[in-house]
Amino acid sequence: MKSKASAPGKVILFGEHFVVYGIKAILCSINKRVTVTAEKTNGKKISINSKIGKLVLEPNKSISEINSPLKPFYYLANKAIKNEDTGIHIEIDSEIPLGAGLGSSSACCVAGSAAIFKLFRDISKEEILEHAIEAEKTIFKNTSGADCTVCTYGGIMEYDKNNGFKKIEDKPNFQLVIVNSNIEHSTQSMVSKVKEFENKNKEKFSNLSDLESQLVKDVLKLVKENKTKEIGEKMNKNQEYLEILGISNNELTKMIRIGQSSSFGAKITGSGGGGCIFVLTNESNSKNILKKFKDNNYECFSTKIDFKGLNTF
Ligand code: PMV
Repeated sequence: MKSKASAPGKVILFGEHFVVYGIKAILCSINKRVTVTAEKTNGKKISINSKIGKLVLEPNKSISEINSPLKPFYYLANKAIKNEDTGIHIEIDSEIPLGAGLGSSSACCVAGSAAIFKLFRDISKEEILEHAIEAEKTIFKNTSGADCTVCTYGGIMEYDKNNGFKKIEDKPNFQLVIVNSNIEHSTQSMVSKVKEFENKNKEKFSNLSDLESQLVKDVLKLVKENKTKEIGEKMNKNQEYLEILGISNNELTKMIRIGQSSSFGAKITGSGGGGCIFVLTNESNSKNILKKFKDNNYECFSTKIDFKGLNTF
């Protein structure tokens, strides 16, 4: 028997990094997916296969001894197997660029959690998400949980660490263009960098957090009113705050400026230091923006909000 699940990637529209400190963020899932297929096998082995490599191990290994980006899958499979006399084979197929701030690892954890546990029993979305966040913590222990949550439920949502998520039911008609710097980044090290900033600049960080919190409140109103132009201005403001935190760099700033000069707004998505930026636009302008970035040799694509979230087959 095979079990299959897919989950979307995501963009953090507002509030990355600040969300780790309890400030509300706004996220949406995008129409690029990870699909995970899990299958019980004879023999007690957990084997995982993806474009980035393979991992084959016996169950019950200590997670801290595993040095592989595939270890969240091992964690999930090991937990699901418990004491059953079976092995598991897992195949991963992804359309989401890796290490680019588009939620590829969260989508893997969510789709992996669903596909693996469903081999053994029925499981609710809430429980799938719980296991997915635990699995993500094996590679990034301070995760706010925001990414896995939006990859599970899809759509556009507000999220804060203490109160969880609330779906935004309005369906804004904006379009996003995502541009990849192709500089790989590590979420863990960027979050540590912000922690260092916070330690050295307590008052400044607290003021920025207040500004970000107010900005998110304003944006939630603007989304209801479908005011794309004003939402774009808030994105540019959020980008300024991220630049003060020190998570941008020359290349990202160059990309942001190209985006901002021809759209409603542009900012980093995710932890920064590399990865992607996104540009807020509408259908009629998105071709121009894509052309502008392509003319400058950037990898880019336009994307829409995914309203489905986790899908199981
Ligand atoms: O892993 P990324 O680059 O998609 O970004 C994660 C977002 C952070 O706010 C930086 C961390 C978190 O756990 O929310």
